[in-house]
Amino acid sequence: MSATLSLAEIQKHNNPEDCWIIIRDVVYNVTEFLNEHPGGAKMILRYAGKDATEEYEPIHPESALDALPAEAKVGTLDKATVTSQPPKDTPTGAKDTEPPAAATPAAASGPKKRPSLDACLSLRDIEIAAEQILTARAFAYFKGGSDDEWTLNWNEESFSRVRFRPRVLIDISTVSMKTTILGQPVSLPFLIAPAAMAKQAHPDGELALARAAAKHGIAQVSCINASYGYETMSKQKDPNQVFYYQVYIHKDRRVTEKDLRRVRELGYKGIFLTVDAPAVGKRERDERVTLVTEDTEGGSYSKAAAGTRGLAKSTSTFFDNKLIWQDLWWIRSIVGPDMPIVVKGIQTAEDAAICARMGAHVYVSNHGGRQLNGAPAAVEILLEIRKHCPWVFDLVEVYADGGFRRGTDIVKAIALGCRGVLLGRPFLFSLAFGQDGAEKTIEILRNEIDTAMRLLGVTSLDQLGPQHVNCGELEKNVSEQYDGPGKPWFKNYFAAKL
Ligand code: HEM
Ligand SMILES: Cc1cc2nc3c(=O)[nH]c(=O)nc-3n(C[C@H](O)[C@H](O)[C@H](O)COP(=O)(O)O)c2cc1C
Repeated sequence: MSATLSLAEIQKHNNPEDCWIIIRDVVYNVTEFLNEHPGGAKMILRYAGKDATEEYEPIHPESALDALPAEAKVGTLDKATVTSQPPKDTPTGAKDTEPPAAATPAAASGPKKRPSLDACLSLRDIEIAAEQILTARAFAYFKGGSDDEWTLNWNEESFSRVRFRPRVLIDISTVSMKTTILGQPVSLPFLIAPAAMAKQAHPDGELALARAAAKHGIAQVSCINASYGYETMSKQKDPNQVFYYQVYIHKDRRVTEKDLRRVRELGYKGIFLTVDAPAVGKRERDERVTLVTEDTEGGSYSKAAAGTRGLAKSTSTFFDNKLIWQDLWWIRSIVGPDMPIVVKGIQTAEDAAICARMGAHVYVSNHGGRQLNGAPAAVEILLEIRKHCPWVFDLVEVYADGGFRRGTDIVKAIALGCRGVLLGRPFLFSLAFGQDGAEKTIEILRNEIDTAMRLLGVTSLDQLGPQHVNCGELEKNVSEQYDGPGKPWFKNYFAAKL
């Protein structure tokens, strides 16, 4: 790709038989790709012969352009031939290799009075503010759960049904929240969960989260569907910062193999394999807002989006839904013997036990209530593991996510055996305020954990245990059913360690 093309030349390729579009000053011939596009041909055709950057950027993972063959790049835009450009409120001219300087959220402009971050005292306050700042479409994409959103609601609600058992008259003058996550020292027991397309909330997306994480010494799981991919993230990585990489396995295994080898080279400290999305949950909030924005916002994007399935659906297009437990060995063969593998999306004691027997770490998650509606909340799954195969907690590290909104929620999960917990939406919402929002989120949680520990009578995380919680109210939701490793009839196919 070397040709420098004038805008007039590009504009000639403006129909389904011959369609070029410009993204970040690069010109692509997408004629062959039109019918493969997960968002549909019509979406791209609206921009045939034009610059699609502004619409394209916030809703595509950085890796989306990999869907095009190399020969689709036909040249670069000769900017001297562009006479007038509409004003842009996002740094869309930035190349993916150049993290943008701090910028203001795309949706922050406009007549609405901007809520103040200083006035936010809790993660809930930040979410409410984010709803006012973000576009309706971005908020719906982040917020939504599947079907009637029962699991989404159970996630948060379940914590209110766990009572503490505080001990008193203990010297709590010094408290430490330090721990290690998969062998890496961190200052707090929570991580930023992998969550797609943070750029919808802020032009700096995951990069802003990474800057906040580095400043406060917490770890971050970089997401395969991130607005900023692993290369870009790694370029701005602080030397001591801890990144892990979340992956879905591509139908073309060579794509995943290349990614896994590269993230290892780049110093990512572990692989999080997400297994709870062999199909994509039905996320009506996300789909509905597409139709509503068509009527109420009337912008070019919302019109173009009508008739698609909502942003969430597209992730299923390229990923392998034939994946089985034995494929963990394939991952191990690529990343080598020492790189931790974490299986994200464990929802039963049986699967936790199989996972642990194979030597992979357990990540209890129902994908933030976005996949199978009716799946149990994290606390219930932890209780099920404690009941049927408590040895899992000794064999491997156990993580959990889903609905953690308070320091007390985090302390409860650690008392039940978690090494750490992850938060998805709170960090996405915090990006309504950019890096400052993410930092405030971390500070709020730090203070809440600190207070909870002191009031419980513990001074370090390893002192927390099941003796600090009463889960009686949730016990009735814990299944009696268990057909996993340890039962005499269980066929031990998976005993071979990774
Ligand atoms: C070079 C051109 C383009 C390429 C290579 C491309 C590629 C992709 C890919 C790979 C996905 C799936 C993303 C995922 O897995 O999360 C996707 C989804 C999507 N794209 Fe594009 N895209 C292009 C242009 C556009 C344009 C110009 C628009 C219009 C604004 C658009 C709108 C969408 C939408 C709305 C989705 C989500 C579809 C759904 O879930 O129903 N795309 N695109
Ligand atoms: C908008 C959004 C996008 C997400 N994208 C991914 C993803 O690409 N990969 C993944 O493993 N999990 C993804 N998740 C799930 C999160 O990693 C995490 O499991 C979930 O957000 C935890 O629940 P919480 O949002 O209540 O903290 C996503 C979650 C949200 C809200």
